[in-house]
Amino acid sequence: MKTIHTAAELKQCITDQKKADRTIGFVPTMGYLHEGHLSLIRRAKAENDYVIVSIFVNPLQFGPNEDFDRYPRDIERDQMLAAESGTDLLFHPSVEMMYPKQPTVTLKVSERADVLCGGSRKGHFDGVATVVAKLFMLTQPDRAYFGLKDAQQVSVIEAMVSDLNLPVNIVPCDTVREKDGLAKSSRNVFLTKEERTEAAGIYAALKEAGEMLLSGMNVNEAQKRFGRSLAQRVSGEVDYAEILSYPELLPPNDNSARLIAAAAVKYSKARLIDNILIDRS
Ligand code: PAJ
Repeated sequence: MKTIHTAAELKQCITDQKKADRTIGFVPTMGYLHEGHLSLIRRAKAENDYVIVSIFVNPLQFGPNEDFDRYPRDIERDQMLAAESGTDLLFHPSVEMMYPKQPTVTLKVSERADVLCGGSRKGHFDGVATVVAKLFMLTQPDRAYFGLKDAQQVSVIEAMVSDLNLPVNIVPCDTVREKDGLAKSSRNVFLTKEERTEAAGIYAALKEAGEMLLSGMNVNEAQKRFGRSLAQRVSGEVDYAEILSYPELLPPNDNSARLIAAAAVKYSKARLIDNILIDRS
């Protein structure tokens, strides 16, 4: 596995692959890799000839009071894990390489971005869409792999690809969890021991909501019970606990075929998110 830092190096590697008619799978990440990221890399390796992984903590998607500076970083460990999982090329640009100056043009996400994480993180999905579009232009992948752990991100990226006719296939991948159900996340390292133990309650509340909805319970009633159940299970502050249609992320009705139950909980040093998709068709 080769690690590179600049667009020029990347261009050379990609030109070689395209000339040889090899397919490119791309996995964008912010690093501090865990099993969730590695599952995307392995899938990309199984479905493509050449796998590019990016590690870039994107300042554009962090608000002024968020954890950009504290976001965990360990490039040496990441290089080892990425190589072991089948990465061919690791792209690790600097902030100056990606944004040599304040960008003149950025993307604005007009729908799907003002609810859930977009509601409490204003401008977050504009920053995600802008960096992912840049990374797609840089890496020119045939397929790009995203985790459903961030289902709202998948929904926004799919809309971006469709609206802008970007020549890439988005592959949504299942959430990888700890044994007790907690979704793997780079931010889990910030939980205290007590918080880590009870954080499994987030997934338990999501599963319960899924079961209520699949058993035919009215969406409004399920929404109320889900909110109450989550608040009882965790000591962290519930940022949101919502049931919406997926992928539109609109208020659902009892006929909506696909739903998302999603939650965000703020602990002392980490804000955790999780969700499940519920298919009622
Ligand atoms: P990051 O949080 O590092 O996540 C990179 C990818 O890994 C995302 O597609 C995310 O959904 C996926 N992922 C994270 N935890 C997962 C888990 N437990 N199971 C399965 N997949 C998981 O998401 C971002 O970075 C950034 O917003 C990015 C897309 C790189 C743009 O900056």
